[in-house]
Amino acid sequence: LTTVREIYKNIDKYIDSEITIGGWVRSNRDSKSFGFLVISDGSYFEQIQVVYHDTLPEFNKLAKINVGAALVVKGMLVATPNAKQPFEIQATHIDIEGESTPDYPLQKKRHSLEYLRTIPHLRPRTNTFQAVFRVRSLIAYAIHKFFQERDFVYVHTPIITGSDAEGAGEMFRVTTLDPKDVPLNKDGSVDFSKDFFGKETNLTVSGQLNGETFAMAFRDIYTFGPTFRAENSNTTRHAAEFWMIEPEFAFGDLGDNMDLAESMLKYIINYVLENAAPEMEFFNQFVDKGLLERLHHVAESDFGRITYTEAVEILEKNNDNFEYKVSWGCDLQTEHERYLTEQVFKKPIFVTDYPKAIKAFYMKENEDKKTVAAMDCLVPGIGEIMGGSQREDDYNKLLARIEELGMDKKDYDFYLDLRKYGSTRHSGFGLGFERCVMYLTGMSNIRDVLPFPRTVGNCEL
Ligand code: 4AD
Ligand code: MG
Repeated sequence: LTTVREIYKNIDKYIDSEITIGGWVRSNRDSKSFGFLVISDGSYFEQIQVVYHDTLPEFNKLAKINVGAALVVKGMLVATPNAKQPFEIQATHIDIEGESTPDYPLQKKRHSLEYLRTIPHLRPRTNTFQAVFRVRSLIAYAIHKFFQERDFVYVHTPIITGSDAEGAGEMFRVTTLDPKDVPLNKDGSVDFSKDFFGKETNLTVSGQLNGETFAMAFRDIYTFGPTFRAENSNTTRHAAEFWMIEPEFAFGDLGDNMDLAESMLKYIINYVLENAAPEMEFFNQFVDKGLLERLHHVAESDFGRITYTEAVEILEKNNDNFEYKVSWGCDLQTEHERYLTEQVFKKPIFVTDYPKAIKAFYMKENEDKKTVAAMDCLVPGIGEIMGGSQREDDYNKLLARIEELGMDKKDYDFYLDLRKYGSTRHSGFGLGFERCVMYLTGMSNIRDVLPFPRTVGNCEL
């Protein structure tokens, strides 16, 4: 078998020769003595038309074949200069490998994304999801390529962990204890010493703390894996299971961190524009008009950079139009983030130096003692796509912060050790992979860029 992608790549080699492809029927239109099948073989965004005549022994069966059936088609590839597609197959033999039935849910019409979410096992067969999931795969590859070309070491941080990296308490517990018979301590709390690991464990919310241990040995590292958050946020941008990319590097500060984040995002955009042209054209036409122009612009211009304090000054002037009013000290909501990046800057921006109280314990305190060396990268249409910081590298300050927040010091002894033995300035960030896919495709719901989304109230398949 060859593939439609292979044919598009080497048209000259295949034209006027015999080829065989395997694929699924997207539509079937028959006349008395011949018919047209449109076949998707999944290898390429474009489909291929197959002409079959009543000279084929299976003609009567083919004339009745349903959308969704799996076929192997052998025939001549001929040029069709006046048609929409540059070529078609004149079939000489067609094997029906798997029939379909008239109740096949994906008929040749536009289905709503809401409906397609109810059939996650079939939606990868539609144009939209063919484009989304191929681009998702390419973005993942581009990210690895970006970091590998820069000699960052890929670290596999654990999924099951004993520490809460973000200190936000939004964890899914991992346990083998029987819910009907949970062992309790004298004070009524759960006795986790009887559990599989002998202690309380969770699914990771971030690989950062483990990543930092490797950055203190390899200098430049990154993680890329699934992360889990039991956030009760039923929005179009939150999932309970999502993928995160977390670079971490020693001997670099917040400015270096922003430079890395900016060049990474530009690299991904350029890679996808170059390697997924038909898919990106499709998104631009049917999902988000203006997407291509915007991405080209982003790839060519500098991101904006402002401090949280400056952002608050801008936002306060627009407080009348916000549901949540802004004042110094408050966390920025999506409406504020989107206002800054969509109305004020009209491009991606970094907001830096947030109040210490609203950021994680590990961020480096600034000289003003009120803010930390944090950065959030905000993009139009989404809001926060990346979050990162320079890390607190002073042993005493970090210990004081851990105690101040009432965290259990012994869970963080390993992390404090990094500040005890050869501590150095170091920084990193987390890119939300799904938000990145949304940004590059123009898809507006995280449920439509995850193959099998897990969100509040939904864990199908
Ligand atoms: O800002 P967050 O919580 O940062 C961290 O986890 C740090 N440990 C990263 C680091 O410095 N190494 O998450 C990072 C990114 C966010 O900017 C967002 O894009 C994404 O992860 N994210 C989510 N994406 C989908 N669903 C959720 N529930 C998400 N929570 C965060
Ligand atoms: Mg964040």
